[in-house]
Parts: sequence; C-alpha cells; structure tokens
Amino acid sequence: MKTFRPLFRLKKYFIRYKRDIFWGIILVIFSNVLYSILPKILQYTIDQMENGIPIEKIVLFAALFVTVTVIHSGLRFFMRQKLIGMARKIEYQLRNDYFHHLQQMSLNFFTKHRTGDLMALATNDIPSVSMTIGRGLMFLLSNIIVFIVVLTLMMRTNLALTLISLIPFSLAFLVVLKSMKFFIRTFERIQSQFADLSSKAQENISGVRVIKAYVQEENEIESFRQLNRKYLHENLKLALARGVVWSSMDVLFGLSFVILIWLGGLAVIRDQITLGEFVAFTVWLGMLSWPVISFGWIINLVQRASASMTRINRVMDIEPEIQDTESCDQSICHISGHIQFINVAVAYEDLMVLENISFEIAIGKTLAIIGPTGSGKTSLIRLIPRLIDAKAGQILIDGHDIRSIPLQVLRRHIGFVPQETFLFSETIAENISFGENDAKFEEIGRVARLSTIHEDLLTFPDQYQTLIGERGVNLSGGQKQRAAISRALLRQPNILILDDALSAVDTYTEEKILNSLRVQNPNQTKIIISHRISSVKHADLILFLKNGAVVERGNHRTLMAEKGLYAELYQQQRLEQALDEL
Ligand SMILES: Nc1ncnc2c1ncn2[C@@H]1O[C@H](COP(=O)(O)OP(=O)(O)OP(=O)(O)O)[C@@H](O)[C@H]1O
Ligand SMILES: [Mg+2]
Repeated sequence: MKTFRPLFRLKKYFIRYKRDIFWGIILVIFSNVLYSILPKILQYTIDQMENGIPIEKIVLFAALFVTVTVIHSGLRFFMRQKLIGMARKIEYQLRNDYFHHLQQMSLNFFTKHRTGDLMALATNDIPSVSMTIGRGLMFLLSNIIVFIVVLTLMMRTNLALTLISLIPFSLAFLVVLKSMKFFIRTFERIQSQFADLSSKAQENISGVRVIKAYVQEENEIESFRQLNRKYLHENLKLALARGVVWSSMDVLFGLSFVILIWLGGLAVIRDQITLGEFVAFTVWLGMLSWPVISFGWIINLVQRASASMTRINRVMDIEPEIQDTESCDQSICHISGHIQFINVAVAYEDLMVLENISFEIAIGKTLAIIGPTGSGKTSLIRLIPRLIDAKAGQILIDGHDIRSIPLQVLRRHIGFVPQETFLFSETIAENISFGENDAKFEEIGRVARLSTIHEDLLTFPDQYQTLIGERGVNLSGGQKQRAAISRALLRQPNILILDDALSAVDTYTEEKILNSLRVQNPNQTKIIISHRISSVKHADLILFLKNGAVVERGNHRTLMAEKGLYAELYQQQRLEQALDEL
C-alpha cells in the first residue's frame, strides 16, 4: 500500500473524470466476462457435434460465437476509449498544473533544480503516470476478472485437472514475483541515467559556443559517450534478464499444456470429461497465461508510476517562496515609484551578500548603483520586483511595505532589464511586445527608436518580423540588450530598472539612449546599474557598493569632492578613455 501512496494524490483528477472511470469499469467487466465464456460456446458446439447435430444447429452456434466475439470487441473498443481517454485527459491536466506550478516558482527554485530534471518530469514522469492509470488500470481490472471467471469455470468443469495443470503456472507466477524487484531497481537506475543523459545533452546544446571556443568537443563527446554507455549497459542487463524470465515462463507454460494434454487426454478417453470440455480447458489455460505474464508488468508499471509521482509530488509540494500573503493589501492597484530601503539585508541560503542598505528615491528620480563585480548590485535590484525577498529590514514603495503590494500590481509597474538578456525564439516584434500582446505597432516602433534598435532592425530581412534565436538570426550582444530595453519600455513602467543593460553598447550610443530616457518620462523612477561612470553621473543619487555595503553615496559632484573610491574610479576610467583615443 505504501507503494501506491504517492498515486493517491491523483484523487482530485479521478473525481473529475469519475463518469469515464465508472463506465470504463462497467465495460471492463462485461467485455471480459464475455471473453471468458467464449470457450464455453466452443465446448457446447463440439459436444453437440459428437452427438451428431443437424447442420442448422452448427450454424446457430457459429453465429452465436461470432455475435459474442463482435460484442466483446465492441465493448473492448469503448472500454479503451473511456479508460485511455481518461488517462490522456488526466495527463493533460497534470502537465498543465505542473507548468502552472513552475511559473509560480521563485528564482531560487530554478537555481536549485537542473533544467534537465524539470524537463524529464514533463516528458518522462507524467506520461509514465498516465500510462499506468490508463493501460495499467485497464489490464489490471481485465486480468482480475478473467482470472476469477476463467478459474471458476475451469474448477467447475474439473477441479483436479485445474489444480494439477496450474502447478507450473504458479511457478511462473513465482518467477514473475521474484524477478520484479530486480526489474524495478534496474529500471530506476535506467530512468536516472536517462535524466543525466538529457541534462548533458541539454547543457551541451545551450552551451555550444563555450564548448567550441574552448575546443572541448572531443572531451564532451567522450563524457557523453560514457554516460550513454552506462545507459546502454543497464538496458542490456535489463534485456538479458527479460530474456531469461520470458524463456523460463515459456517453458513453464509449455509444461502446463503437457500436463493438460496428458491427464486431460486420459480423462477424455476414460469418459471423465467430454471432448468439448477438454478443448474449452485448453483455451482457458491459454487465456490465463497473459494475466500471469502481465501481472509482473503491471506491478512494474505501478511502481514506476509511483516513483514518478513521488518526483512530481516533490516538486509540486514546493511552495512558491514569494507569493501574496494575508498581509497583502488587495486594494492597492497602482504604484507610482517612490522607493525606500531601510536597513535591508540579503542572503542566499546562509551567505550574507548585502547588509544595512538604506536609501530613498523619490518619484521620477534616478538612482545609480556602481561598484566592483560581486558587490551585490544585482541582488539589490532583484528585491524591487520581489524576485528575491530581503532577509532583514524593510522596503517601502509609495509608503507601502513591499509585501503588502499584490505581486501582479508590483511587477506590472516595473520594467526590468536583467543583466543577462533573454530573448525568445520568436520575431523581434513579439519579443518586444512580450507581456503586452495587444501593443500597437506604432508603440513598438516608438520604444525601438528610444532604445536605438530601430535602425538596426531596418537592415534585417523581415525587419520587425525577423525571427530571432534558434530558428532565426542571431542578434549581437548590444542588439539583444537594446531589444530587451525596448521590451521594458513598452509597458511604460513607473519604475525602470536597467541592470548593466548597456554594457555591450558603445559609450556614444549609451549616452544617446540614457539622454532620451531622461526626457521621455519625467515621472518614471529609474535605477541604473553600471560599471561606467559615464552612465551614472547624471543620477540624482549614486550608491557605491563594495562587499555588500554602501561605502559612498551622493551625486556625481559630491562624490568627486569626497575623493574616495568613486573619484578614483572616475580618474581611472578617464585615463583609459584618453588612452583609447590616442
Ligand atoms: N542565486 C544565488 N545564489 C547564491 N549566491 C548568489 C546568487 N546570486 C548571487 N550570489 C552571490 O551574491 C554575491 C553578489 O552577487 P551579485 O550578482 O548581486 O553581484 P553584482 O554586484 O551584481 O556583480 P556583477 O557586477 O558581476 O554583476 C556574489 O558573491 C554572488 O556569488
Ligand atoms: Mg550583477
């Protein structure tokens, strides 16, 4: 029972499709009872023939046989429709629920789980569960019914013959039971090796540029080959074991028939049973072999589905770290962009990366964050759309605690351009209008001009309709960044966050973009992270971060006067620029 427990979670889906299940079960019962009594018709026909019946009666029996067979096939057809259909519908729901769940997960979740594993859940585990609740349930019920009905009919015909001829059958059953554990363990290993193999392939495909640049093709091929070899090895082991089990079953089933023909034949000669009964007996014995063989398969299927369901449940049980709580004030439906941090701290697990961060930025003002790599700049701005939550301290937006603002509202008003640009394999226009599906074309053009990508797009074959990514053209680093900025601008956010989003753009273009951003929406609060002083010097407030703390703050003028780290960086960058221009 413990094995089945993870599958109990499917209860809500079963309840949803209870009608299908009800009719499926009824059809299973009727079709299998009919199937089991077919030999009985055969028996009557043969016995009657022995007694010399008229030809019309034989035709009648034949017609009866055909009718029962046709009805049985019809019932089986509808049974499959109901049960397999139900399983497919549950698979559909489960996959949708899983995808929905993944969408709720916070950033942290995706750093903790391998993409290959998350994919394997959708492509391997969910179908395995569906297979069990469809085919598994259908065969299990069918087998039970055939087993009960056939065995009863056999015993009523001749108890002793039934018991003796079933001895090798019981041995076959034992073989199935004994080998099951081995099959299940091997299968689990195969599943996990398959997950490793898919993860490897997936990382190789997405990391192809690095692999080529470091001339690691041969190494990668070798390590893939090793993983693949392990996978092959386990599969061969499974195939060998299967071969042995199948052959021994064949021998045991054969033995049953030898016993039946020997003892049954004797019984016919001695007139203890009729010839018709003997024939029926032979057919019934054949009918019983499938339930015995498939019993192991079904148990295996259920175990696999249960292991799959455990994996699915494990992910589905993870609560989104960041979501609306009871303290959320649903009456807030707008934010203007006044941001205040009070003694905020950030930690990943136990690693403290930001401490004691306090600042305030009024609506329409620009905050700039500068500082060495790894100083915590990205971590700081991730707090604003609540991609992560603060470990300590308080963040207020328009005076509301950030946790009291519904996530939807908060994020709808923020335009966020992350440090690593991501574009979907769609057209450029679709990428820019992501999340704003009914955006007008003029609007897309306007933001593309603002981020100066418009001119680049005109040189592409299909301009705004050019496909990008895996199936289309590849944009340059700077073009990608500007496309991502256009995407953020399109939603006309009240808070715009650029995380080093112009790093791949030359200083001249950067200046141009920042200037136009400055004038186009005076009420927009802007947060700009950069490594270049040139991009932050116009900001109203500049924070210099180092080792997770604000070490200098002010505007360009006051920071220069301070002659600290900021001023030092400025001199250094000026010198570099001067050298470049030489
Ligand atoms: N998801 C994460 N899990 C654990 N540690 C993290 C995570 N993200 C960042 N860190 C760590 O937090 C520290 C600050 O990282 P952060 O990305 O905020 O730096 P940054 O100032 O943006 O650097 P850069 O200028 O290189 O972008 C680093 O030491 C980094 O290793
Ligand atoms: Mg960063």
